[in-house]
Amino acid sequence: MASEITVDPGGPLRGELRVPGDKSISHRALICNALAEGEAQIRGLLDSADCRSTMACLRQWGVEFEEHGDTVIVRSPGQDGFRPAPGVLDCGNSGTSIRLLSGVAAGLPFRSHFDGDESLRQRPMRRVLDPLASMGAAVSDNETAPFWIDGSGAELNGFDAAIPMASAQVKSCIIFAALRAGQPSRIVEPGPSRDHTERMLASMGADIDIARGSIRLNPGAELQPQDVDVPGDISAAAFWMIAAAMIPGSRITLPNVGINPRRRVVVDILRSMGAMVDLRNLREMSGEPVADITVTGSFLHCTRIDGDLIVRALDELPTLAVAAAVAYGETEIHDAAELRVKESDRIATTTEMLRAMGVKVADWSDGMRIVGGQLHGATVDSHGDHRLAMAAAVAAMAAQPEFGPTTIRRASAVDISYPTFWRDLDRLRHVPV
Ligand code: S3P
Repeated sequence: MASEITVDPGGPLRGELRVPGDKSISHRALICNALAEGEAQIRGLLDSADCRSTMACLRQWGVEFEEHGDTVIVRSPGQDGFRPAPGVLDCGNSGTSIRLLSGVAAGLPFRSHFDGDESLRQRPMRRVLDPLASMGAAVSDNETAPFWIDGSGAELNGFDAAIPMASAQVKSCIIFAALRAGQPSRIVEPGPSRDHTERMLASMGADIDIARGSIRLNPGAELQPQDVDVPGDISAAAFWMIAAAMIPGSRITLPNVGINPRRRVVVDILRSMGAMVDLRNLREMSGEPVADITVTGSFLHCTRIDGDLIVRALDELPTLAVAAAVAYGETEIHDAAELRVKESDRIATTTEMLRAMGVKVADWSDGMRIVGGQLHGATVDSHGDHRLAMAAAVAAMAAQPEFGPTTIRRASAVDISYPTFWRDLDRLRHVPV
């Protein structure tokens, strides 16, 4: 990943932009429909490296995909018809692929071998392997990928416990295994992680009941294929929302963005910093709330991000830290140790980027303090982390013009979740004011 991109400071951002389909919902639309026998259409699927990893793995199990632009037809023999993968299931950079598909693998009567790229090989996997082992799957004793899972032994037991961390990937992994267990499951959630899996499975006929803080699931219901319209990704929209909020004179509208209550906290955090964010035309799309989001540039002040806000804003934290760098006062982020085990150690990589751009930052094991001031152009590295590359682009645009442009190393990391990011950046900057 040797690409370098230079971004000039300045804005404003103007106009209307459709952001790509939601990454989490895209993965789930592929996986849940693969579990059901038959055919379904997914419209607005995110075309990115991560979703392609999920498709490539499912293909190895015998699922077929037919692509027509941004519509993908899934044709599946159903989970009972999956065949052993002829090779290793390579999940690339995608934590969502490897963790969600691990849960599926636990319910298959053969051994599946998983692996990923250099970054994924460093991320903790006992968080999925241990619960699957507790349900009776045979799993290898590795801490990280590569690893294997074998569901050929006795039927899986139900899961009845709290999951050790508020993580949608771990929760979804357990749910996929629980669908194939011999008894009901009760999964207690320590925090409000995204609930797209639960919503989608419920709409496909799973016997799943989402009470406050816990999920009850009775296995055995036959899943029906379900067409899905994927809403725009709020985690992709967040880059433009935050950039527009920071850059005076900006006004952008992002139609059709998913605003699931467990994802939309970036809206609340930006508002708490003084940003003008309007949600209009609220409606539902395939069981998910969506809206058109308009953001107008304004003067930002500091905030504090901690507790339950963290799991709902996890992917947006590096870019919110960029907003804090120009906000009045000192912003603190606490309880965010999970950032250390994302595609990069996002506490280390975010603070390194901000320091290179002249910002005063302190960091500790689960957070950081950012002193608001000015951003200066610099050379920064994404460390191969897609969200870092895009956060750096936002910082570059919001930097003081007199300090010159910012060069972002390994900028093509954006392909993981937002391949059209650089084109969209140009579009929003070149609408006449
Ligand atoms: C995701 C869950 C989140 C998020 C990731 C996508 C998902 O991770 O950071 O980008 O699609 O389930 P957690 O498992 O830590 O919640």
